[in-house]
Amino acid sequence: MCGIVGYIGFREASDVIIKGLKRLEYRGYDSAGIAVLNGDVKVRKGKGKVVNLEKMVAESGAAGTVGIGHTRWATHGEPNDVNAHPHTDGTKNFALVHNGIIENYDALKKELLAKGHVFEGQTDTEVLAHLIEEIQKVAKTDFETAVQMALKQVDGTYGIAIVNKNEPDQIIVARKGSPLLLGIGDDEVFIASDASPIIEYTNKVIYLDDDEMATITREGYQVKTISNIELSKEVHELEMSIEQIEKGGFPHFMLKEIHEQSQTIADCMRGRLMVDQNRIVLGGIEGVLDRLTNAKRLVIAACGTSWHAGLVGEYLLEYIAKLPVEVEYASEFRYREPLIGPDDVMLVISQSGETADTLAAVREARQRGALVLGICNVVGSTIARETDAGVYTHAGPEIGVASTKAFTAQVTVLSMISILLGQRRKVLSEADAAILIKAMSEIPGKVAQITEKQDEIDHISRLFAYAPNFLYLGRSYNFPVALEGALKLKEISYIHAEGYPAAEMKHGPIALIDEHMPVVVLAVTDHTNEKMISNIEEVRARKGRIIAITTESNHDVRNLAEFAITIPDTHDVLTPLLTVIPLQILSYQIAVYRKANVDQPRNLAKSVTVE
Ligand code: F6R
Repeated sequence: MCGIVGYIGFREASDVIIKGLKRLEYRGYDSAGIAVLNGDVKVRKGKGKVVNLEKMVAESGAAGTVGIGHTRWATHGEPNDVNAHPHTDGTKNFALVHNGIIENYDALKKELLAKGHVFEGQTDTEVLAHLIEEIQKVAKTDFETAVQMALKQVDGTYGIAIVNKNEPDQIIVARKGSPLLLGIGDDEVFIASDASPIIEYTNKVIYLDDDEMATITREGYQVKTISNIELSKEVHELEMSIEQIEKGGFPHFMLKEIHEQSQTIADCMRGRLMVDQNRIVLGGIEGVLDRLTNAKRLVIAACGTSWHAGLVGEYLLEYIAKLPVEVEYASEFRYREPLIGPDDVMLVISQSGETADTLAAVREARQRGALVLGICNVVGSTIARETDAGVYTHAGPEIGVASTKAFTAQVTVLSMISILLGQRRKVLSEADAAILIKAMSEIPGKVAQITEKQDEIDHISRLFAYAPNFLYLGRSYNFPVALEGALKLKEISYIHAEGYPAAEMKHGPIALIDEHMPVVVLAVTDHTNEKMISNIEEVRARKGRIIAITTESNHDVRNLAEFAITIPDTHDVLTPLLTVIPLQILSYQIAVYRKANVDQPRNLAKSVTVE
């Protein structure tokens, strides 16, 4: 969601920035722009893709070695050329890019209008630029102080970068709620919303925290708080590689990421799933294991796909570790009076580690004294840093907006936590733990067997590519997978899809079933098998089109379904790690048939940094 790239050094800033903005495209955006210093502030911007911006820059030029760029995901003001960032102040002395939302922008704008300021567009960001201008004019301060004073008047969230023609050898950045990091090179510094634009130049990064700002020159940087207290920041080393953020021969990142899952699940378990010793080692939560083991209940909070992983986790933790679990939408958690306190443990799940709603839940729970743990994918992300302890999923960068490998890695972590807690709480016998641990070690190979079936799934995708609706049904561990399958389809193909616990079908959705309705049933061979077969019969009786995801050994379901996609047999509780794969492939292929933008679906952002 919105992306910032900035550069100061010896290279052409527009080259670095445009390349960087392309790397951030996956975050979701509707317009793009750049401002480069070269005597003046040259702004080039417009609605649409970064390639349009690239053409604009090639045609009209934007030479210079200091600049900032932005991809905008509209919040205030429609996506058009004027509202695209960067925004300048009234004197056009400086240009600013901004991620986040300035909540009191309307009040600030009215005051500025009364003082004679004229605005070109409708954005909250332009208001901030004019506010800085006004403060500098009235208070007669230096530019950095004016920025600090303006930010103190702002309610809401921001990650900003500013270039000023009167300070031609510096960029000012600041952060509150929207991620920003600095990449430190030799005689050059890079600025970005995440590490992907930086990784090809340097692996040394500094993460800015909330209420911090930095003044950046070619030689280095000075970080301080918005209240002007100087800080010394740790320089981190990135472990990401450039190959991880490229497509590697696949037509789309999403397909690459679907295929990577046998590897990413194995990576997630490496050094943690000790098959020979029949135990699980999770270093990130070792220090808090006693408190977690003795917890009376666990509250899981997350959004979207990560919330679905949390729902699978609820089944796993209750079945394996006998630990009561409540799963919350992170967005809802803090808007009621959550009953959470020092005796409770919260577990948040987030691929990006930057989701604003999830971060708000972390802060709320910590403020109320709960122990807060995280399952994050992005190393060094805000949630990873603000939680008390946690487990990284190690799935590598996920670029496709629709989450795939992050989900299976999250479920893998939740499975490992469940086994670990089951053993520690003495509710899981060593023999049962051994069965589970062995079954987990076999999951990567089984995932690879499913991704090889891509062609088999293709004819089903082609047949149903233009269906207007889809229904997904599952029970028990596979009910959340039904939700996830429906979410994947609607996100990238724009087909209306709903997921239900299969038994709920007869309480309403059955009214929708006729000969045009594809019904995807997750019918593995487990304790729900008989009931799922009854649901399949109910759909068949109404001429619904059954697409069953079932286990190889389940001949009953295979015979009843119009289409059956089989997965290898595994332990019942681990089936979500397998059943979700054909659903991801089905959604992907349908979206491709519909010529949808698979990796960057309309209106969606990879990292949802506004509430
Ligand atoms: C779905 C999807 C979103 C995210 C949600 C939470 O494919 O990607 O639903 O799962 O926005 O994001 P994270 O996990 O980054 O907190």
